[in-house]
Amino acid sequence: MQRVLVTGGAGFIGSHVVALLLERGCQVMSFDCLMPQVHPQSPVWPDYQPDQEGLDKYFGDVRGGEHVVMHALREFKPDTVIHLAALVGVGQSNYEPAMYTSCNVTGTMNLLQWIMRYNRAGGGVSRVFIAGSMSSYGEGAFALQDGSAFPVATPERLPFEPSSVYAWTKAEQERGAVLLADLNPEALQVVTGRFFNVYGPNQALTNPYTGVGAIFSARIMAGLAPLIFGDGTQSRDFVHVSDVARAVLTITEKGDAGEAYNVGTGKATSILALAKLLCDKIDPTIQPELAGCYRKGDIQHCWADNSKLRALGWEPQIALEDGIDDLVAWVKSQPVATQELLDRSIVELVQHKQLLVEAEHEENSGDGGCEQSGGAEPEGLA
Ligand code: UD1
Repeated sequence: MQRVLVTGGAGFIGSHVVALLLERGCQVMSFDCLMPQVHPQSPVWPDYQPDQEGLDKYFGDVRGGEHVVMHALREFKPDTVIHLAALVGVGQSNYEPAMYTSCNVTGTMNLLQWIMRYNRAGGGVSRVFIAGSMSSYGEGAFALQDGSAFPVATPERLPFEPSSVYAWTKAEQERGAVLLADLNPEALQVVTGRFFNVYGPNQALTNPYTGVGAIFSARIMAGLAPLIFGDGTQSRDFVHVSDVARAVLTITEKGDAGEAYNVGTGKATSILALAKLLCDKIDPTIQPELAGCYRKGDIQHCWADNSKLRALGWEPQIALEDGIDDLVAWVKSQPVATQELLDRSIVELVQHKQLLVEAEHEENSGDGGCEQSGGAEPEGLA
């Protein structure tokens, strides 16, 4: 692994993977379309990825053809491709299904098609890393004891049962990549990392569809309470982005072709506990609030059985209590978000009927953020 093309290289996870590869002395191409939803300064490259020795920046979309993807491959001549470019908003995917399918499924198939053509024309991409998601499992694994079910760590063998369009696109791109590699073994070899909930510096704060840690931090910084969908007991496996970057390189170098590896700490944290931790760290006078509604397509519990990845020699190094300080420092270094921006995803989710008021909350649904646009019909649909 000496010449590595990273799609989504200017994004949250991509920027950390690029930095780690550069640190290890690799030549890197950061390939990114700088989607304005994530990069408001687009087409200007983000400050956190400055020009440096060993780094090529390529402004392109993974859905591009001969003059984009093939051009980048021919110009840079990578031996490895790490594919991280994707749209990530679970709620948004359910009312923008075509856009999510295009980026996450067609984009991946297009990239792989050009890699195979490149290899068949003499190119030397020997490995492609695919960014899968734990959301593809749907609800995490459960065990039964004395007639009642309780959640347990989720292993890779749990069959996929996606419950949002986003999760379905991630399941399909992974299955499609493995199928394509099976059918074309001389031209394509893939490995997959299934990411759990990644947090840390460079996480987009201006993207209203970013991860919950960034959303909560940005709200607290603006003096607003974090709004919790559901009752806050739903749990996730929060894994620091630097642990994820190391996992990506471990899987790419040592993973078995065609295999998938969970990338998580193995520890579950409730959304309410995360919100409280962030309030304590940023502004203890603020307390989380229940929004009085839940997000369609959400799952209740999922955390990683990471033994398969540990067997490759990786282990998480940063506990949430410590790693969250990096996220907080990042948030504090950025401009405070406007209320309009902070409310945008909630308003859109309500307009598109993706935030549902639970029956028991209906009487006092005015308490939380779900009421803000009163279920009005969507405006300005592109
Ligand atoms: C996240 C990632 C997804 C990744 C997956 C893997 C994002 C945007 N999505 O999805 O790319 O594949 O992890 O695990 O990073 N919540 C609130 N209030 C809010 C926002 C969210 O209570 O303002 C709740 C949600 O309802 C959910 C939980 O927080 O129960 C996590 O939400 P989110 O950060 O969007 O993550 P996932 O849906 O798990």
